[in-house]
Amino acid sequence: MRAVDLIQKKRDNQVLTRQEIEWLISSYAAGTVPDYQMSAFAMAVYFRGMDMQEIRDLTLAMVETGESIDLSAIPGIKVDKHSTGGVGDKVTLILAPLVASFGVPVAKMSGRGLGHTGGTLDKLEAVKGYQVERPQKAFIKQVQEIGLAVIGQSERLVKADKLLYALRDVTATVDTIPLIASSVMSKKIAAGADSILLDVTVGNGAFMKTVADAEKLAETMVTLGKEVGRKTVAVVTDMSQPLGQAVGNRLEVLEALQIMQGQGREDISHFICDLAKIMLKLAGVEESLAVIHQHLVGGRALRKFEEMIAAQGGDLKDLYRPADARFVTEILAEESGYIAELPALEFGLFAMKLGAGRAVKSDCLDYETGLVFEKKVGDAVRKGERVACIYSQEELGEKELTEFQKNVKIMRERLVPKEIIKIIS
Ligand code: URA
Repeated sequence: MRAVDLIQKKRDNQVLTRQEIEWLISSYAAGTVPDYQMSAFAMAVYFRGMDMQEIRDLTLAMVETGESIDLSAIPGIKVDKHSTGGVGDKVTLILAPLVASFGVPVAKMSGRGLGHTGGTLDKLEAVKGYQVERPQKAFIKQVQEIGLAVIGQSERLVKADKLLYALRDVTATVDTIPLIASSVMSKKIAAGADSILLDVTVGNGAFMKTVADAEKLAETMVTLGKEVGRKTVAVVTDMSQPLGQAVGNRLEVLEALQIMQGQGREDISHFICDLAKIMLKLAGVEESLAVIHQHLVGGRALRKFEEMIAAQGGDLKDLYRPADARFVTEILAEESGYIAELPALEFGLFAMKLGAGRAVKSDCLDYETGLVFEKKVGDAVRKGERVACIYSQEELGEKELTEFQKNVKIMRERLVPKEIIKIIS
């Protein structure tokens, strides 16, 4: 077979066979199909799409380019969770220990942030000593012992995705359903959990900009999961504004701690309880929201989180340390009314420029910088009241403050945001 023929076939809107997809992906992972041909293929998929059979073949071909994790040594139904990315998304930090606090084993591999989106690994690494690299044996042993581990994805898992994702990132081919679905689901299948909760984000800070596209992506991934025998549920969730209050690594860890101490915003606490209920159900555990909420705010989730931090070498004193930023700048409301818009993309990029995120993969992070919103969409605000604080290492100039301020939209009418837009199972 020749890569050029397969690129042409997709370019001309024809359907590829399983053999053709397997050949292309295995050759790319082996290094015999070069990046420039794979880029052309990704662009052809971007414009022409793939049918469900092609997406299934692509996903399974990608799984075959790496090892798969065997979690069978951990008793019980193992549940995993994955978000398609967003701004201020600290859900895993809270949801994983909350679910584990019910005795459901959570063996999770997470990723890093890029561009305006954050990554769970970076947030955990904001805690001094926390180790994200763990040998597979130690990972499994930790889950056997304390029921919870969050580590970095093994280098040996889904080699094709590592190569292809980096390529898509620089060739404007990330935001297409066949490539996102195969990327996410190949990793989830290889990571070995029995059940999977997918958080498909939608809105200006997400890859999917419309609810219709997010639903289509969610349905595609749920179908893929079920076909390989994994119980899979997707939730379509709002990413038009940052999730919760903090954006930035240490600041998000601190917000997660506040939530687990019962001091977080009610809306985010309830959102996490809703997700936990679905995740527990996937593991065969039926619990009421009231009991889940009690685990969240009553200390059980927090104890589990601390156990995990300690088991992975994290310093529990450092965990509670305030953010060490040289400047904290207040942003005050310029008029009275209701917060109508806090665009996630713009604030994600703002935080990235403060050092909280990476413009390119090789960038180093400043774990201490970021944003904390005291008002969110739908909240009433009076002129002069504090809307947010910016944590930075350099003093902010007029230009940055104007840029921030112009993205805080205040209106007379109140909009009511909805965190979970749809559940697809
Ligand atoms: N997250 C992934 O893991 N892959 C994608 O393609 C997009 C989001």
